[in-house]
Amino acid sequence: MWESLVVIEILSFSKFARFTGVRLGWAVVPAELSYSSRSPVLRDFDRIVCASFNGASSISQVGGLACLSDEGYKYALALSTHEGYRGYGAEQGDKRLRETIAEKMYANMGIKGSEVFISDGAQCDIARLQMLFGSNMTIAVQDPTFPGYVDMGIIMGQTGKYDDKSNKYKGIEYLRCEPRNNFFPDFSKVPRTDIIFFCSPNNPTGQAASREQLKELVEVAKVNGSIIVYDSAYSSYICDDSPRSIYEIPGAKEVAIEISSFSKFAGFTGVRLG
Ligand SMILES: Cc1ncc(COP(=O)(O)O)c(C=O)c1O
Repeated sequence: MWESLVVIEILSFSKFARFTGVRLGWAVVPAELSYSSRSPVLRDFDRIVCASFNGASSISQVGGLACLSDEGYKYALALSTHEGYRGYGAEQGDKRLRETIAEKMYANMGIKGSEVFISDGAQCDIARLQMLFGSNMTIAVQDPTFPGYVDMGIIMGQTGKYDDKSNKYKGIEYLRCEPRNNFFPDFSKVPRTDIIFFCSPNNPTGQAASREQLKELVEVAKVNGSIIVYDSAYSSYICDDSPRSIYEIPGAKEVAIEISSFSKFAGFTGVRLG
């Protein structure tokens, strides 16, 4: 029973000040990836997640296209004209942008435009994925890492209580990543979880996982029947031959979703206001 009723009002500058989001990201959900019941994750993502949260505006999407190709740049300029302006497009994102991301960011990795879902940023995709997975999922995160994975886990009720002594939440597997272990956990000592959040290059350590480490990660997920949520938001900062995408690893399409963002490489960090 509620002891008192509370009204929460949400408001946005989007409509009255035409501030519609200039945040932009994407998630790759491969057709091969399925739940343990064998039903494809892509079907849920496409049907439920995209339909419920159409966050990326057409304007920011063509801005993304302009970053990726000359043709996209011309297409973006046309938007500022009366004739060229278009409102919201498909829930999954602009088809051209989806195809351009598949072609430019995942060349030779077998990713199709239909597997790329445009969003209003990686942070929002983390939240959407956590909602899709639900509260019964167990999660593992690198330690340290970007706080978004744990924060949404708490909101979703995936965690236990906060432990003041360890500064950690019960019910989460924290994968200690430090110079001592080459920033990669010893998975033989980590209990299985349903989801493994893995960020490379990692925020805040900046460490990019090596090819060998990512092969091990994919193998662990396969053996344990886990889904990897791979955050490649900082991939454009990789200067050596470390993989820029989890899909550079054979077999990753069967176990991994990749989320990424224009925030870092194109300076698109949120210009949203509500
Ligand atoms: C590792 C990582 N992932 C995701 C995000 C969020 O990206 P976006 O601006 O696309 O929501 C950040 C932003 O700071 C980040 O550091």
